[in-house]
Amino acid sequence: MPLRNLYTLAFGACLLLSLFSCDTAQDNHPRERIDFTQNWAFHLGDVDNAYDPDFVDTEWRKLNLPHDWSIEGEFSQDNPAGVGGGALPGGIGWYRKTFTLSEEDTAKLFFIDFDGVYHRSEVWINGHYLGKRPNGYISFRYALTPYLNYGNQPNTIAVKVNNADQPNSRWYSGSGIYRNVWLVKTNPVHVNHWGIFVTTPSVAEETAQIMVSTQVNNKSKAQGPFSLQTIIYDANDKEVTSTISDITLKDTINEFSQQLNLQNPQLWSVENPYLYKVVTLVKKDGKTVDHYETPLGVRTFHFDAEKGFFLNGESMKIKGVCLHHDLGALGAAFNIRAQERQLEIMKSMGVNGIRTAHNPPAPELLELCDKMGFIVMNEAYDMWKKGKNEHDYSQDWDDWHKRDLEDLVLRDRNHPSVFMWSIGNEILEQFDSTGTAIATELAAIVRSLDTTRAITSGLNHPETSNYIYQAGVLDLIGYNYHHDKFEDFPHKFPEQKFIGAETTSALATRGEYDIPSDSIRRWPIRWDLPFTEGNDDLTVSAYDNVSTPWGSTHEETWKVVKKHDYLSGMYVWTGFDYIGEPTPYSWPAKSSYFGVVDLAGFPKDTYYMYKSEWTEDTVLHIFPHWNWEEGETIDVWAYYNHADEVELFLNGTSLGTKKKEGDVLHVMWRVTYAPGEVKAVSRLKGEEVATKVIKTAGAPAKIILEADREAIKADGKDLSFITVKIVDKEGNLVPKADNLVHFTVEGEAFIAGVDNGNPTSLESFKGNQRKAFNGLALAILQAKATTGEVKFTATSEGLEPDELTIVLLRPVIP
Ligand code: GAL
Repeated sequence: MPLRNLYTLAFGACLLLSLFSCDTAQDNHPRERIDFTQNWAFHLGDVDNAYDPDFVDTEWRKLNLPHDWSIEGEFSQDNPAGVGGGALPGGIGWYRKTFTLSEEDTAKLFFIDFDGVYHRSEVWINGHYLGKRPNGYISFRYALTPYLNYGNQPNTIAVKVNNADQPNSRWYSGSGIYRNVWLVKTNPVHVNHWGIFVTTPSVAEETAQIMVSTQVNNKSKAQGPFSLQTIIYDANDKEVTSTISDITLKDTINEFSQQLNLQNPQLWSVENPYLYKVVTLVKKDGKTVDHYETPLGVRTFHFDAEKGFFLNGESMKIKGVCLHHDLGALGAAFNIRAQERQLEIMKSMGVNGIRTAHNPPAPELLELCDKMGFIVMNEAYDMWKKGKNEHDYSQDWDDWHKRDLEDLVLRDRNHPSVFMWSIGNEILEQFDSTGTAIATELAAIVRSLDTTRAITSGLNHPETSNYIYQAGVLDLIGYNYHHDKFEDFPHKFPEQKFIGAETTSALATRGEYDIPSDSIRRWPIRWDLPFTEGNDDLTVSAYDNVSTPWGSTHEETWKVVKKHDYLSGMYVWTGFDYIGEPTPYSWPAKSSYFGVVDLAGFPKDTYYMYKSEWTEDTVLHIFPHWNWEEGETIDVWAYYNHADEVELFLNGTSLGTKKKEGDVLHVMWRVTYAPGEVKAVSRLKGEEVATKVIKTAGAPAKIILEADREAIKADGKDLSFITVKIVDKEGNLVPKADNLVHFTVEGEAFIAGVDNGNPTSLESFKGNQRKAFNGLALAILQAKATTGEVKFTATSEGLEPDELTIVLLRPVIP
């Protein structure tokens, strides 16, 4: 058998059986964090005694986590989540996993960490009830040790997930164990859960002072002496500084503080997100009993009432987007590559900030933001005690809000990308006096755990009578919308620091254009009214001239934020379309129109407005497509930068040169359509900078496949996002093509999701076919755990098919 296959078998066995039994072979690991996502049994529906270890689940479906059962369901406006919740089913689901532990581990401690379960989960180990966690967005842990079996006797974890009572979240939540799960094995003496807090009280060019607070949990009889060593490694894994302290442990949680000095620190910034690593070693008689790693980014920042946001002493505008947690066709099921791709697309348009609207994110989102350089507003809640939907978190508020907020801060306070804690979005208590008391309580909870970041909230009552504002506990006044009032803010809220916590809510369907385009439409005027029967056009024009009445167009918003230094920045609603809230329509629309890119990740035209303003890349983007009726009047828009004019040509004849006037961010020509080609040329002082041509497309003739990555890891999780283009025989994208495309996969991979970005498509996100929408579709190919080559083919009746080969590479095992 070739070596590669042997490797594959070994790797596959580790993954598929029980990963930790492979890991335990490495005795020198005092702490293990084992991927616990493989081989679960799942049943949709309630079952009386599924928590019982003797319950037989052999008939249940076998799957790997993360898993979202809602995304597998059928759209219906009768689903209890409603159209706002994405019109997909909820319900109750059970998960079970059986595993064994080595006899050698009887002296160890075991914990199970859930990154997020939506929602109202309850967990049992071997029939013993571990507890419940109502909040579907929070991470939580249970200690397993007292209830475990070792040797041949199996253990069973059972999880009940209850998403039956809906609507709860105001957007698509997903249902199930939709984030990662870890089995953590430690020694009785170990760093406590989320027990490290690293801060940088002073940062100068020559030296940064690093304070590390460490909680050591002692579940043994040993009282000491121990030693606590903290080592800082640079990005090349080279030790740069360390300290060691002798410690004595009581049989409880012991807290220690250490100071280190880092010479010539490399600063973390959005352009160069330099990361150090803090390694904590707890030692007994020279032997390491725990090893714990924490990311460290050295940076300073402050908000200024007149001059806005400063990072490392330099003024910087926060150009952010709000993101909901769904990953399009994958639903809520977390996948790190899908999340990374979202962030890559955002970064490519110049985004430097992410708001985790309106809940704690997957922990990996913050790891990615640390690595990629984003300014994160980490948000705790969308409501407090007063609910927005009948079955939402307000029901759990009294019992859980303190614990949930503490856990969020403890989990995330070491991420250099986190700069702001939002204690709530558009909280109803801002309109009554209870808002003052609750805001005061929440801010105190945050400050008891972290005083290094700004506390804000997405307010939407822009008056000083706002009861949350009245509490005087916000470091940063966050306002949602009201871009037309931004200029009053310095007078209305003197000396306050300000951020546009949520802006814009402009609307667009990719590739749809209503003409004329030079007036702005606020839509819907009454957003609570149902969809008008008989109107089957559920598209919104993608010229940037449509917004909700409470919002503003992209251009309107950015123009104001750009102009005033005191506006620290803005977070656009939203970077990506998301499932649910299909404003301005309702059923059969089921996903949002707010994104700068659509649900599949295909940019709408305003992506290029931002790119022209927010990046150094040269941009010349013209739209719409060039397939119209002869003689029609067509508005041609251009976004450009690095140039002082653009000339437009129709079939070689100049239609004139335009320059952006005043603060306007685009130019427009009104053109009488003739088929052929429209061409734009941008120039700086007469020198050509860029050209862009759009041709009239003929009939759909063939499929073109383009993968974002043609080589991915054979780790059972990695993804290749394959764009499907319908083109004419010359290779021009056919702008209205909606051909049904079928996919086949030969090799060790499968299709994890399909989409086309159409907010009104009710086709399933699962399966092996998809209609194109305005010329494009998407297939998401997921690797299995075997190396090799995968042939991916796309066919459609009457079209020339296309295929590509995706290579599955051996993953690097850390
Ligand atoms: C905001 C809200 C968001 C979303 C948005 C749609 O008011 O905070 O969650 O609903 O409106 O425009």
